[in-house]
This record gives sequence, structure tokens and C-alpha cells, in this order.
Amino acid sequence: MNYSVDALKGKHIIVGISGGIAAYKAPLLVRLLVKAGAEVRCATTEHALQFVTTLTLETVSNNAVYSDLFAPHNEHSTEHISLKDWGDMMVVAPATANIIGKLANGIADDALSTLLVSFRKPLFLCPAMNTQMLECHSVQRNIDYLRSQGVHFVESTSGALACGTEGKGRMEEPENIVAQMVDQLNHDDGQQDYDGKRVLITAGPTYERIDAVRFIGNYSSGKMGFALAEELAGRGAKVVLVTGPTHLTTHHTNIERIDIESAEEMYRAATGHFAQCDAAILSAAVADYRPAERADYKLKKQGDSDMTLRLVQNPDILATLGQQKQQGQRLVGFALETNDEEQNALKKLEKKNLDFIVLNSLQDAGAGFGHNTNKVTILDRDGGKTVGTLKSKAAVAKDIADHLRSLLD
Ligand code: CTP
Repeated sequence: MNYSVDALKGKHIIVGISGGIAAYKAPLLVRLLVKAGAEVRCATTEHALQFVTTLTLETVSNNAVYSDLFAPHNEHSTEHISLKDWGDMMVVAPATANIIGKLANGIADDALSTLLVSFRKPLFLCPAMNTQMLECHSVQRNIDYLRSQGVHFVESTSGALACGTEGKGRMEEPENIVAQMVDQLNHDDGQQDYDGKRVLITAGPTYERIDAVRFIGNYSSGKMGFALAEELAGRGAKVVLVTGPTHLTTHHTNIERIDIESAEEMYRAATGHFAQCDAAILSAAVADYRPAERADYKLKKQGDSDMTLRLVQNPDILATLGQQKQQGQRLVGFALETNDEEQNALKKLEKKNLDFIVLNSLQDAGAGFGHNTNKVTILDRDGGKTVGTLKSKAAVAKDIADHLRSLLD
């Protein structure tokens, strides 16, 4: 692996270690960071020291290990505070369900969790646990929440687990953890290649009202569109994010967020802003139809008879922007397909006058609605095709932003 980018040289990095078997790989991570020129201090939970010794960590980091809130040998009486001031960034590898849960809920009851709760600089968590634990809805909720607060997650990989099963939950290899940290540092250190650009993004589902309490919706979480908004804003773009109902939050001050509910509202917001934008990326899962009539009261059950709901077509926002597109403007669409994927996506690209289309296949595990990961293929107008691998939505957003940037100007 090549760290010639020098991003880590002279950086103060805190390596947090919580109590999972993958802790045996933590000394390797520390070594790689030290080798790349960083100064490293380790902070561990008590359980982590069942898997890796203080002596090992002190030897590879060349620094004392912080593992006991009240140890008399701590340099300062409030070690977690002085340590959080010292660190430029922090990585927790492995991050167990427990430490993730503590941070997500503001629990600070040992050295590592106290430090984490006080730490406000770039933070990477590298989850490592049994597949069922990782899939547990409360663990996923905690991960989603922390992600929405700007915490970076180094996705765990699939393979043989210490418990004897196979599945997702292995900690990413130390080399790849370092690579993702370097990527982020380079990114934060100001790749401002969207400076002066204005980009419209649509995200999330739309809700089409049936009556005062019911609607037609879909499972879109908005994560892909929000990841795109953060990526572009971080690179200097002014982003207009038109989003359907979602629990996600935005962070970057370059993002102007417009919350809407229905496709018609999204249509009005998007068409109203497009003319002032250099590009638009429409990732929203827009309902193609809406109820012809909306009751502003709660509909009552009609005895034993069935009910028929008449639906009328919603405007196609992407196709409308395709017609309005001026020279120099770029338009990107998404296609979620289940069969004849490429053929269908290319038809949409042509019909809606797009510059490229991002194809999601529902046949790919871990891709599409609700997941934190995605696997996409980018199809260009001129026949170009870029097949991506399964990665975090943030990483997919970066790929899409890189692709779009090469088409602007
Ligand atoms: N889209 C839109 N407005 C709509 C429907 C879709 O802007 N009313 C956009 C989506 O945001 C996405 C792209 O069009 O970027 C593809 O949406 P999709 O629903 O897959 O395409 P459709 O044209 O509706 O085709 P079909 O439902 O037949 O697959």
C-alpha cells in the first residue's frame, strides 16, 4: 500500500480499541499509522485488554495506553479531556456493538467511552461483531444515527467469523482502514473541485395522500441522495436538496434543504431551482401515481365491500428537467431495475435526455433501498460503462461526484 499522499504525516491519531477478537489486529493498525508518519496513542476498554496487551500497544505506539479512567499513572487528572484535545482524528478498531451503542446514546462509563463522548473531530468506527449482532435493529439504528451525525464507518466485510459462522461482521483489514482514513483526510483537506457550482439533488420517497391519515409511499430511505449532498457540499458545491419524508439530517452549511411530501411538491421545487443549477442528480424514488381524490378526513370502511382507489399519473420530474436542460447543464438519473437492467436503464437515459444514469439492481445483495451500502453501474450517453463494487453509500457518492465533475465545464 502506498501512503505517498503524506496525509498522515505529523497527525495525532487516537486508536480506540474495544473488546472483540479483532482487537488482535489493532497493533498492526497502530504500526501502519506510525509507519505513515503519524503519532499514535491508544485508548482501550477493559475488555479489549483481554485480547491485546498494554505492553504490545505501548511498544508499537511508543506511548502510554489509556485504559483506566482513574489510574494514578495517567498524565493528567482528566486524561480523556487532554487526550481529545491532543488528537486530530480518532479511529476505533474494532468497534463492538457495545461501544457503538454507548456513543450513540451518550454513555460515558469508562476510559474509551468517556473519550469518545467528548471527541468532536473526524472519527472512524470499524464495526466488528457476529452477523446477527450487526443486523440487530438497535445496532443498525445506532450506526445510522452516528452516521447522520458525521461519524465515518469503515464497513465490516463478509467471511469466516470467530464464532464459527460465515457472514458480515469481520473488521476491515488494517491496510484498508488506513486507506479510508487517508481518503477522508485528503477530502477534508479541501478537494474543492465543485467550488462555484450549484447542484440540485432529489432524495427519499414521496408520500401520496389518500386521506387525513393514510398515504401511498415506498421504502426509500434517502441515504443515497443525502450522501451525494454531503459529498458535493464538502467539495465546495452549493447544494439544493429537495427531499421527501426521511429521518436523516443534513450537516454541511452548503446544503439548502427543502422538505416536501408529494411528487407534485417535489416537481414544483425541482423545476423552480433547476434553471439556476449547473447540474441535477435525481435520486428520489418518486411515486409514479397518486390517488385521484384526497379526502381531508379519515375514510371509513364501507361495510363488507372492497375498495377501489383510482390513481392518476404524477409528473415525471426527471423527464421534465431533461426537456428544460440548457447547453452546459448536466442531468443525472437513477434507475432501480429488477430485470433487463442495462437495457431499461439505457432507454431511460435516452428518453429523459440524461448525461448519465446510475443503475441499481435489486438482484445485488446489500444494494438499493434502506442499506448503507450500494452497488451501482454508471452508464454514459456515449456508451461508456463503469461497473462499481459493493461499497458504502458515501463511497458511491464520491464516485458519482467524480464522474459528474469530469462532465462539467
Ligand atoms: N423520476 C422522477 N419523477 C418521476 C419518476 C421518476 O424524477 N415521477 C426519476 C427518479 O428520481 C429516477 C429516475 O426518474 O432518477 C428513474 O425512475 P424510475 O421510477 O425507475 O423510472 P420510470 O421512468 O418511472 O420507469 P418505470 O417505473 O417504468 O421503471
